[in-house]
Amino acid sequence: MNKKYRKAIIAGNWKMNKLPSESRAFVEELKPLLPRSKKKVCEVILCMPYPFIPIAQRGSKEKRLALGAQDVSAHDSGAFTGEVSAAMLKDIGCKYCIVGHSERRQYHGETDSEVNTKVHKLLEAGISPIICVGESLEQREKELTLDFVAYQVKAAIAGLGPKEIKRCVIAYEPIWAIGTGKTATADQAAEVCNGIRAVIRSMYDARVARSVSILYGGSMNPSNCAELLSKPDIDGGLIGGASLKVADLAFMINATADGAAGEDEGEAE
Ligand code: PGA
Repeated sequence: MNKKYRKAIIAGNWKMNKLPSESRAFVEELKPLLPRSKKKVCEVILCMPYPFIPIAQRGSKEKRLALGAQDVSAHDSGAFTGEVSAAMLKDIGCKYCIVGHSERRQYHGETDSEVNTKVHKLLEAGISPIICVGESLEQREKELTLDFVAYQVKAAIAGLGPKEIKRCVIAYEPIWAIGTGKTATADQAAEVCNGIRAVIRSMYDARVARSVSILYGGSMNPSNCAELLSKPDIDGGLIGGASLKVADLAFMINATADGAAGEDEGEAE
């Protein structure tokens, strides 16, 4: 990570786990374990199922914790049964929203163009998108990873100006590492995160590229997070399974905050 130019972020992705009533207790338990530093060295985000958000929000007046959703509608309002708009998310206090998670692409047929529309809707509503990209095992084995991820990033951020891309977070999540216990090695993750930054640099410029936080996601846990976070282009994590346990999440938040408060590892330009 490189604290000089961008935020360190730990984002929990709870997926469809826990109950709304448990979210408040979780936040209460987490609060005393958050870094005490006056300067916010690590942005902590919990991306919860929709009904949890107002409950967790009411329970927590905690400035060190931001709430996020896991998806958003590509439409503004109207006859779209079951959907939740960006304006609705904003109204309940969401600051972030995951878009294009591989589970949405895989099980709900979400396309790159829908991801792009959702990114625009979120930014218009004042919410920062956490854009997920990542290759399948087959693509990795065929050595298509960098090209495929570059394609996904370009499609997701098409039409954004430099001010807008700076409000986005990109999460590199190799599909084969999600929920499988198989983590990408720190070198594999760093190579792709570096490639993502190069794509942003080619579309904008070096200054814009170095201000965007890029996260790794896929079986990240307390035992592998330090090595992943030691890479200059990995600015934090999007964490599924290990974000469901207060102690594990707190450990990773503090490891990230300690790294962000320390010396810079140097910039990969
Ligand atoms: P995992 O999930 O940490 O359980 O692998 C990450 C994600 O899907 O965001």
